[in-house]
Amino acid sequence: MSIRTFGILGAGQMGAGIAHVAAAAGFDVLLADVALARAEKAKADIDKRLAKAVEKGKMTEEARRALVDHIKPVEGVPALAPADFIVEAVNEDETLKKQLFRQFDEICRPEVILATNTSSIPITRIAAVTKRPTQVIGMHFMNPVPVMKLVEIIRGLATSDATYQTTVELCAKMEKATIVSRDISGFIVNRILMPMINEAAYALYEGIGTAADIDVGMKLGTNQPMGPLELADFIGLDTCLAIMEVLHTGLGDSKYRPCPLLRQHVDAGWLGRKTGRGFHDYTAKG
Ligand code: CAA
Repeated sequence: MSIRTFGILGAGQMGAGIAHVAAAAGFDVLLADVALARAEKAKADIDKRLAKAVEKGKMTEEARRALVDHIKPVEGVPALAPADFIVEAVNEDETLKKQLFRQFDEICRPEVILATNTSSIPITRIAAVTKRPTQVIGMHFMNPVPVMKLVEIIRGLATSDATYQTTVELCAKMEKATIVSRDISGFIVNRILMPMINEAAYALYEGIGTAADIDVGMKLGTNQPMGPLELADFIGLDTCLAIMEVLHTGLGDSKYRPCPLLRQHVDAGWLGRKTGRGFHDYTAKG
């Protein structure tokens, strides 16, 4: 089947980023969220970022217009019925994802592949709620999607070779490198990244250093573009906590227990950049 239309559910930072790179690769994109206004805002934000690229001389005005014209904001799951390929990019919530995959299974043509951008939840469990587990796959993009080169691909127990091949080819069209992970909670990237972030939260919790010193230490001491606490704020502390919970319960090892300080920040609604405060305060930084 030739794939022309990407259906993306979830117009948050990940869904919007995936819409951006899919449109840049020439696919038509249906970008859905529960409320149309959220999908429209995501498209407007993509357009603003492209306008900056045009200003910097990194993109032509025609290319900008062509890219945004490929993105159609829509409302709700049923609006994705015409899609040739689905990517789900909602919160890291297994119950919600399963409910959505049941709906996709009902509304999408039988040949359509259903991909999830889950960053940690086993694909096999999500696939099992559909009647097409051979066509369910993990397609884990990194944030910010237009900048990061990687997509981590996760095959569920039943995922077919054809589904895997098609997904790898789509990633290549979007100029992304791919790696393959076994379908174990957390996969490769978050199995390694999240314990580092969690350990940085413990270092802060135990008063080993200030948030600024922990971040500068890791930035300048290990050449990472962002310190771990700054990166956690960028990803979202709610997402980091959800991934740590998946590692902790899925792998059953106490070394993955979420840091109480991380949990407390989430309880306080200090979710990182998106709420203006996380381990760092962004209210003064604009
Ligand atoms: N969307 C599109 N482009 C973006 C962007 C976004 N959200 N944020 C930044 N960019 C672009 C900028 O436009 C700029 O492009 P040009 O060079 O063409 O002008 C470029 O990225 C660099 O941006 P800045 O100069 O503003 O900032 P920077 O040099 O500090 O880089 C960064 C910002 C790319 C985010 C960098 O700090 C970085 O790489 N951080 C680490 C990000 C990371 O580790 N991501 C993975 C998170 S883990 C994950 O996603 C998995 C999971 O499941 C949790």
